[in-house]
Amino acid sequence: MDRESRARLFEDNRANWDDRAALHVAAGYGIEELVADPARITPEVAQDRDRLGDLTGRDVIHLQCHLGTDTLSLARLGARRVVGVDLSPGSLARSREITARAGAEIEFVEANVYDAREAVTGDFDLVYTSIGVLCWLPDVTAWAQVVASLLRPGGQFLIRDDHPMFMAVGDDVSDGLRIEQPYFQREQPMTWDQEVSYVPAPEGAPRMTHTVSHEWNHSIGQIITALLEAGLVLDSFEEVPYAAWCPWPELMVREGDRYRLREDPDRLALQYVLTAHRPADTARP
Ligand SMILES: C[S@@+](CC[C@H](N)C(=O)[O-])C[C@H]1O[C@@H](n2cnc3c(N)ncnc32)[C@H](O)[C@@H]1O
Repeated sequence: MDRESRARLFEDNRANWDDRAALHVAAGYGIEELVADPARITPEVAQDRDRLGDLTGRDVIHLQCHLGTDTLSLARLGARRVVGVDLSPGSLARSREITARAGAEIEFVEANVYDAREAVTGDFDLVYTSIGVLCWLPDVTAWAQVVASLLRPGGQFLIRDDHPMFMAVGDDVSDGLRIEQPYFQREQPMTWDQEVSYVPAPEGAPRMTHTVSHEWNHSIGQIITALLEAGLVLDSFEEVPYAAWCPWPELMVREGDRYRLREDPDRLALQYVLTAHRPADTARP
């Protein structure tokens, strides 16, 4: 696909995410609870505390940070410098507001993840990205190169994301779970036209007017291969039968902060978490 066509797809996604940012703030998104309690961190970051280790004095970059709630949580774990990167200025405006109210210092940078290396100064001890991220990116090989280029030697990478098998299942589950979307990365995106987000809109929430968005799936093999080819060393990889959101209320139950299939949850991995590091003695990719 040529650069211009790809730029048009990113532009649709940017406008769609600006609308979602307004809707998500109206829906709550755990923001008031985070602002009110300086000891609080999001469940997404909390579940990876052991994997993240001690962030005291570390430089951390959060790719696709959306409203900055996980970014704020990383700052609260003691990181020295925290940077959040996102394509959507609407998301970043809210991130800055939330961070100011919470009294934290975080740099928010508006950039496509593919331009993050040029957009941000310095190297990082941790590159973090989570939940609903890779589906917005057309090319995991180029993405992995960006991740590696942001890490200083010895630096750590953590991704927790929706599992590509979960993403391959169709939305209409009235007949059970059916594979309807590609599992492997394809050049052509899956294009949606939807007025809704993954968070239910409360009464009076701003309506989404930029309803078209484009997504790509990437197989587990493609994701791991891209990271290895970028020079990272794989440290851990886990697949789990729970998700952070609930696309199929008729088939899922809530358990604490997450959702799983009501019947036979072992049928399908819904999320994975992967950690890797840049070896101490490698040149920048
Ligand atoms: C599902 S959200 C991540 C959510 C995050 N886990 C949270 O709940 O706070 C996906 C984010 O990716 C951003 N995004 C999508 N495509 C991007 C791209 N090409 N470069 C940078 N950010 C992008 C969107 O603007 C959105 O804020």
